[in-house]
Amino acid sequence: MEELIDKYGRKINYLRISITDRCNLRCRYCMPEDGVELKNHSEILSFEDIIKIVKVGQKLGVDKVRLTGGEPLVRLGVVDLVSSLAKLKLKDISMTTNGVMLAAKVEDMKNAGLNRVNISLDTLKKAKFEEITRRDYFDKVRAGIEAALETGLKPVKINTVVMKGFNDDEILDFVELSQNKNVHIRFIEYMPLGGEAEEEYFMSSGETKELIESKYNLVPAVTKGNGPARYLKVPGALGTIGFISALSEHFCSECNRMRLTADGRFKPCLASNKEVEIAKTMTEKDIYKAYQRALEIKPSAHHLNFADNDKHNRKMSQIGG
Ligand code: GTP
Ligand code: 5AD
Ligand code: SF4
Repeated sequence: MEELIDKYGRKINYLRISITDRCNLRCRYCMPEDGVELKNHSEILSFEDIIKIVKVGQKLGVDKVRLTGGEPLVRLGVVDLVSSLAKLKLKDISMTTNGVMLAAKVEDMKNAGLNRVNISLDTLKKAKFEEITRRDYFDKVRAGIEAALETGLKPVKINTVVMKGFNDDEILDFVELSQNKNVHIRFIEYMPLGGEAEEEYFMSSGETKELIESKYNLVPAVTKGNGPARYLKVPGALGTIGFISALSEHFCSECNRMRLTADGRFKPCLASNKEVEIAKTMTEKDIYKAYQRALEIKPSAHHLNFADNDKHNRKMSQIGG
């Protein structure tokens, strides 16, 4: 089988599909208060086109997909999309969500064929949640996490972007959550990707780990996934903790991913403005050519830095992590 192997020897088999750039939160590090300019419906890929793109990808070795946004659950018909994806017999269908609509939809999503969810949550305090997301949906997200656990989806991961002076005082509370619930907390380094990035918020995974180890003896752990997180756990805990060190120890040399934007472009790197438009005719040949071109221009590594925070063509909310 032909495979997507780039000039640095990385095999690309994981497609992250942004299905909308809309979001029902307004996280400060992710998008401006008045939102981003949204695409017209006519510019957004139809589910049929997404399925075509995944099918061509499968012929090239793509066997894992993740739905992202914006917030994927705000797109109408998302359950039908998962049903169509499930028919393709992929190895993994996952979703990254802010959790707001999860309690309402997770059961249907699971029944349609979703394998697992990653839920973003940066604070365990209601008031702080409102401060960061500019919305009063904390209770909905907590209910979403419970609902995901109740459906038996596994693993349930929590994405926590660590910001010094903002939520570093809650790191140990998140660790405690991993002890009491079968959730996998991933502490993510804050990346300058066009949000309200201030370098002084940055806290490295090393610092986070040190803080945790001042209280706990962590032991190695394994959590299923296709990503760069390194996992540890508190002995006896139900869940684990992971570190995503995107800046201090980047994992670009192991990158296995390609991104598809909601408006139909391949974006080979989260941190690069380089994109490839897929011809509107969407024939198998067009899609194949676009995959190959995107592979050619995939950079060897990112060059993220806080000085260039405003140089990104898309906000994080339009890429979906
Ligand atoms: P799984 O291990 O399969 O669960 O995937 P994942 O951890 O990649 O999934 P998720 O979408 O939850 O991503 C978690 C966080 O990792 C994102 O919010 C980003 O902050 C970061 N991240 C994801 N993909 C990339 C990437 O390609 N490059 C960099 N630098 N960071 C990424
Ligand atoms: N740095 C790191 N992670 C980020 N996310 C959003 N913006 C940033 C950033 N600047 C994460 C969210 C969510 C995922 C979609 O991306 O917390 O988990
Ligand atoms: Fe927050 Fe994600 Fe929405 Fe961005 S896309 S505002 S990180 S919930």
